[in-house]
Amino acid sequence: MSPPDAVATYPGPVVSAAGVDADLVDLPATLARGLDAVEENLLRSVSHVDDLVDAVAHHLVLAGGKRVRPTLTLLAAQLGDPTRPEVVTAATAVELTHLASLYHDDVMDSAPLRRGAPAAHEVWGNEVAILTGDLLFARASRLVAELGPRAVRLQAETFERLCLGQLHETVGPRPGEDPVEHHLQVLSDKTGSLIATSARYGAELSGADPAVVDLLVAYGEAVGVAFQLADDVLDLSDPQARAERTGKVPGTDLREGVATLPTLLARARAAAGDPGAIALVELLDADLTDDAALARALTALGADSATEEAMDEARRWSARSVEALDPLPAGAVKDALVAFARSVTDRDR
Ligand code: IPE
Ligand code: IPE
Ligand code: MG
Ligand code: MG
Repeated sequence: MSPPDAVATYPGPVVSAAGVDADLVDLPATLARGLDAVEENLLRSVSHVDDLVDAVAHHLVLAGGKRVRPTLTLLAAQLGDPTRPEVVTAATAVELTHLASLYHDDVMDSAPLRRGAPAAHEVWGNEVAILTGDLLFARASRLVAELGPRAVRLQAETFERLCLGQLHETVGPRPGEDPVEHHLQVLSDKTGSLIATSARYGAELSGADPAVVDLLVAYGEAVGVAFQLADDVLDLSDPQARAERTGKVPGTDLREGVATLPTLLARARAAAGDPGAIALVELLDADLTDDAALARALTALGADSATEEAMDEARRWSARSVEALDPLPAGAVKDALVAFARSVTDRDR
């Protein structure tokens, strides 16, 4: 299997002055080998003696996905000793954790399509999809248990933040709480936490310097927020043009009334009396279970300055993640991390 585009298209290794990358002859090939091992482990982890469980748990692994999180773990491990077996175990655990969260997220969002395949709840129903998500969380925990108590604690903390992010997104801001600040905290918790942990596992378990671990955590948090902001803008894409690439049905957030930065910015402008934004909010507040109304709302929001502002915010988070890497010595790994951060706001899947 191949690594994500940003890594696959990386032009080649750069040997740093300090020589830390001297033996990274071919980073993309090294990562691809690591991802093959992760894939094998993933398939083992979703296997079950119960036929039904086996089929449901395999469903989303086999459907594809970008494998962003395990790739980050493998990449971060290049800053220590990447051959330690714990690295592939952790890389598998983060993808499994992500995978489990997708089974649950699609039930919550009533999403019809995931990774180009019908969402699990569409095929087997909500109960089976939720319980399979739980089962995959359990399988991830079993893997993390092999990494020792420190990793178990980190996994628990990450899982807690992921749940809190989804919970706070569901209940919305408290009275008096700034909706945009609340939203950014939601993104940090539901998405930044696991992406940061993916990088952290790689650095920590490979024995990288603690200062390197810290900066990779800061990088992961910021790049995670950028990733989710960009994902939410991708959800506004033209359904025909995009569903094929993202493997998801655009407009899901709007239809389900999930707040995203574009809708929050448009609503703030409407509240301040901007006539264009008031007209837009009327479209957003229409009955969006109607396909024509949803298409109108999508087109109007996509063309509104709020969407461009949300992408600007995504770029700022991406730039922040790159800044966090400043102290890292120049080299192939740093270049690949920077390339990934830039690709996040410039992607179509
Ligand atoms: C989807 O994550 C959920 C978000 C955090 C936006 P990905 O975009 O990494 O999904 P896959 O793994 O490629 O399917
Ligand atoms: C990401 O949120 C879900 C998790 C982090 C669990 P979204 O609801 O935006 O993700 P997609 O768009 O369905 O992939
Ligand atoms: Mg969703
Ligand atoms: Mg989304």
